[in-house]
Amino acid sequence: MPNNPCERLLVATTNADKLREIRGVLLDIPCALVTLQDLAPVPEPEETGLTFGENARLKATYYASRLVDPLGEAERARVLTVAEDSGIAVDALHGEPGVRSARFVRPDATYPERMAELSRRLAALPDKPRTARYICAVTVIRDGKVVYETTGAVEGEIATEPRGTGGFGYDPIFYYPPYKKTLSEVSQEDKRLVSHRGHAFRRLAEWLRWLHAHETKK
Ligand code: IMP
Repeated sequence: MPNNPCERLLVATTNADKLREIRGVLLDIPCALVTLQDLAPVPEPEETGLTFGENARLKATYYASRLVDPLGEAERARVLTVAEDSGIAVDALHGEPGVRSARFVRPDATYPERMAELSRRLAALPDKPRTARYICAVTVIRDGKVVYETTGAVEGEIATEPRGTGGFGYDPIFYYPPYKKTLSEVSQEDKRLVSHRGHAFRRLAEWLRWLHAHETKK
């Protein structure tokens, strides 16, 4: 029996928009994809990290310890848990909102409110560039240990007003110059091709294929 080193991949995110994008990238991987919805509910961890990498590690470690560690030893070794932390960093605001992107303004603020606040802050700095980037950090845990980490980023600008209906979060004000559109105005496929999440998860997919090729025992 071949012994698949990544029989199952638990994608540990509670964000349905992120999950849709991640699924769209992880199409040809040698592992069955499992989501938090497939497993017993657990509370979300508090994101106390100061960097995207710290938060990705914190989330992956937390979900693996709650959901995968209780499995038997042999099964546990063949389940990988992946988590990501992402956000938008605006240069003129010294990288804000950064790791606080999902809590910017107030934890229960709407995205129109958050985007309006970003626009207001940038309008007060007319001489500063409107450059920004989305960043996505990814961590994979196996058997309690970090076995893979990567990041992805996409450079853009904060548009003067929201445009488009696709995507999620800050996409209506994230203008991507090569497309001459915001990431809310492009198809899911076009966003995946250039986005921080697309880049990071394509690297993960490559690593999974490498792992499968090198560690599968006949
Ligand atoms: P967290 O990783 O759970 O802290 O949440 C990341 C937050 O960053 C999201 O809730 C969005 O506010 C923002 N964000 C991350 N990626 C994207 C994206 O692809 N489009 C728009 N907003 C994003």
